[in-house]
Amino acid sequence: MLLEAPVYKEIFGAVKIYELQKVIKMDTETEDVPMFTVQNIPREDIYRTIGEMAIIVPMKNEKLHLVDGVLKAIPHKSPIIIVSNSKREGPNRYRQEVDLVKHFCNLTHSKVIMIHQRDPGLAEAFRETGYEDILDENGLVRSGKGEGMLIGIMLARAIGAKYVGFIDADNYIPGAVNEYVKDYAAGFLMSESEYAMVRLHWRHKPKVSRGTLYFRKWGRVSEITNRYLNQLISEKTTFETTIMATGNAGEHAMTMKLAEIMPFSTGYSIEPYEIVYLLERFGSWENVEEFQDVFDQGIEIFQIETLNPHFHEDKGQEHVKEMVLLSLPTIYHSKLASERLKRQILEDLRMHGIITETEEPPKPRIMRPIKDIDPKKWMNVLESNQETLLRFDL
Ligand code: GDD
Ligand code: MG
Repeated sequence: MLLEAPVYKEIFGAVKIYELQKVIKMDTETEDVPMFTVQNIPREDIYRTIGEMAIIVPMKNEKLHLVDGVLKAIPHKSPIIIVSNSKREGPNRYRQEVDLVKHFCNLTHSKVIMIHQRDPGLAEAFRETGYEDILDENGLVRSGKGEGMLIGIMLARAIGAKYVGFIDADNYIPGAVNEYVKDYAAGFLMSESEYAMVRLHWRHKPKVSRGTLYFRKWGRVSEITNRYLNQLISEKTTFETTIMATGNAGEHAMTMKLAEIMPFSTGYSIEPYEIVYLLERFGSWENVEEFQDVFDQGIEIFQIETLNPHFHEDKGQEHVKEMVLLSLPTIYHSKLASERLKRQILEDLRMHGIITETEEPPKPRIMRPIKDIDPKKWMNVLESNQETLLRFDL
């Protein structure tokens, strides 16, 4: 793969954020590229890395056609981890997903693990390993995309994956999914640190507008989140920046070493909080001894602009509001946010009717890092208590 080389970066303490890099060619024969501005990632290296990367697909009541396309597009070498929170009453959508996955695995012999998020066995596994952060008042795992991703990371850890990549289940373009996995691998291959993250930014996000397809460059939520994340960074450095282009990137990946030390925020606030946390904790040289290895190696955040457009389910205006309501409070409640920044976020949320004039943005609920959960014990408890765990070729 040919990519623009990461020429420009911002450095905060131990965190390096690289500017957006465009994919120049998906697949090449090139051995040597004599230009410093272009980075060549050999195909064999990409495929080797893909084999070490579990792809986690969170899903909740998505169209089966879309799920089918997503699964078929994930490169064969990557184990797939499906964490579903789909309905099991009325029309049992989870059952339909299971049928689809079984059929897919029979046909392709893909490596797949699948589980329902509300499986009591999962709750038991977390409880027994001392991790109640993810449980609700009924003692089950809470609903929410972030929670689904955390389960996925635990399963990936149990099968020894070196990297985890996340892919939403509602993608209309299987070819895009196939590219995302390769882009993740390319990002890791550029990294010099074992603590690395790759976040994707789409070239375009097409929408149907007045009867024609309009290729939007920016999503509505991302535009707002990126603006405030950049402001957070600019205030800290006193130099204005536009470096952050992937504040909400649902499609992103990280090394397991990084995933293990990250606290995660719930639901849809998980992605912006990852950046806020990394800046808060590693953005300056404080309490270095607690994370000596991380400070020594540094954390690298790559942002890659995909070749494919991103075409997913349009879930409506209310959903957009919910995403903003979950994203901005991660910045608002950050210890790095100035009073001025907080005031602006508050005004924005109130002006758009997302919170009322008297309301405060809700505090994000943060789940502790999973590093202290014993993965063997967790998996044993899960296997003896599970009701929905399925494993194919793994
Ligand atoms: N397991 C699980 N549990 N999955 C869920 C849940 C849940 O409670 N809620 C949603 N999902 C799944 C969806 O089925 C989909 O596959 C994926 O998570 C993303 O959810 P969407 O509802 O499609 O979110 P979106 O498209 O508006 O936003 C996506 O992109 C944003 C940035 O572009 C998400 O990935 C966001 O997190 C991201 O910020
Ligand atoms: Mg979506």
